[in-house]
Amino acid sequence: MNPSTNVDLTPFNTLALPGRAARYQKITAPEALTAPELVKEKRFVLGGGSNLVLTGDFDGLLLHMAIPGKRLVKEDAEAWFIEAGAGENWHDFVQWTLTRGWPGLENLSLIPGTVGAAPIQNIGAYGLEVADCLHSVTGWDFEKKALLTIDRGDCRFAYRDSLFKQQGWHLNGRIAITSVIFRLAKAWQPNMRYADIAQELATREIAAPSAQDIATAVIAVRQRKLPDPAVTPNAGSFFHNPVVEAVLAEALADAYPTLPRYPQPDGRVKLAAGWLIEQAGWKGKALGPVGMYEKQALVLVNRGGATGQDVVRTMAAVQAAVREKFAVELTPEPIFL
Ligand code: EPU
Repeated sequence: MNPSTNVDLTPFNTLALPGRAARYQKITAPEALTAPELVKEKRFVLGGGSNLVLTGDFDGLLLHMAIPGKRLVKEDAEAWFIEAGAGENWHDFVQWTLTRGWPGLENLSLIPGTVGAAPIQNIGAYGLEVADCLHSVTGWDFEKKALLTIDRGDCRFAYRDSLFKQQGWHLNGRIAITSVIFRLAKAWQPNMRYADIAQELATREIAAPSAQDIATAVIAVRQRKLPDPAVTPNAGSFFHNPVVEAVLAEALADAYPTLPRYPQPDGRVKLAAGWLIEQAGWKGKALGPVGMYEKQALVLVNRGGATGQDVVRTMAAVQAAVREKFAVELTPEPIFL
């Protein structure tokens, strides 16, 4: 291990926030994580930086996951099993599976970030979560000093949550994901449950879409609604959609009849954070260089030159506005470093 020192992290986070790492090491093979000195180090594991708020300089060792590789591991009568290294770009990987004729991940097209980060917050969009297509996750456990493979059933996947988010995605987190195996079922069905996607396909007059057609529709919808981080720095949805008790959801729906509500299996109700933020007056509004995007109020954007402190200020103002109007607490999706 031979880390670089005083490395600028601005290019490594999609909010383009400034900050430097005291030490920085690109990790291109799992073996690099086994160095004994890593256990004692103050360390942070970084993927694509698309769900990160850099609040300033980092005085530890930043491990930038860049393990490559993608391959068909095996195939049985029901499914293909595909493995990818943690450092592979997520969207490129999804496109690669589609060109190989292995459908299943198309609804998750164009999500920024890496393969290794996908299971951590169980990325999801347009009626699909990565957990739905995942077989197992392999990662280096800094405590056990071993490479562990964790089957899907043990990953504690939930809405934007997993075992890895609880144990492995924070300062001195326990697990660094090195590769992921996906299980893509051969009995493929197009997933068009999400109204935006169904409508996009209808507009294109595609009644029986292929997986690539779905990917094309997803890409079009995302490009219409969500800012391209390369142009307008952002971290996707900035808050979780809050899940609240049914009584509160009903009371809010009485007061605001257009409130979107998504009943959950446990009886609680998921609300649309973007709707709450818009109704609280924050759609397209900014505080200094940080605002909420004009076409999707759930996306926080850096209008240029923002620092992590600017992000924290806007975040707090949005949370206060939603709390005041709806008595709902918004929790941020990204991690703060
Ligand atoms: N809405 C508004 N105003 C807005 C934004 C949304 O009223 O400014 C309303 C919409 O009209 C709709 C509801 O809120 O009734 C939900 O909006 P949308 O379908 O755009 O999805 P979302 O809940 O805002 C979630 C995910 C996205 C994912 C989309 C599509 C979370 C936190 N976000 O957004 O994921 O792409 O659904 O499935 O669950 C991400 O996590 O970074 C992300 C982009």
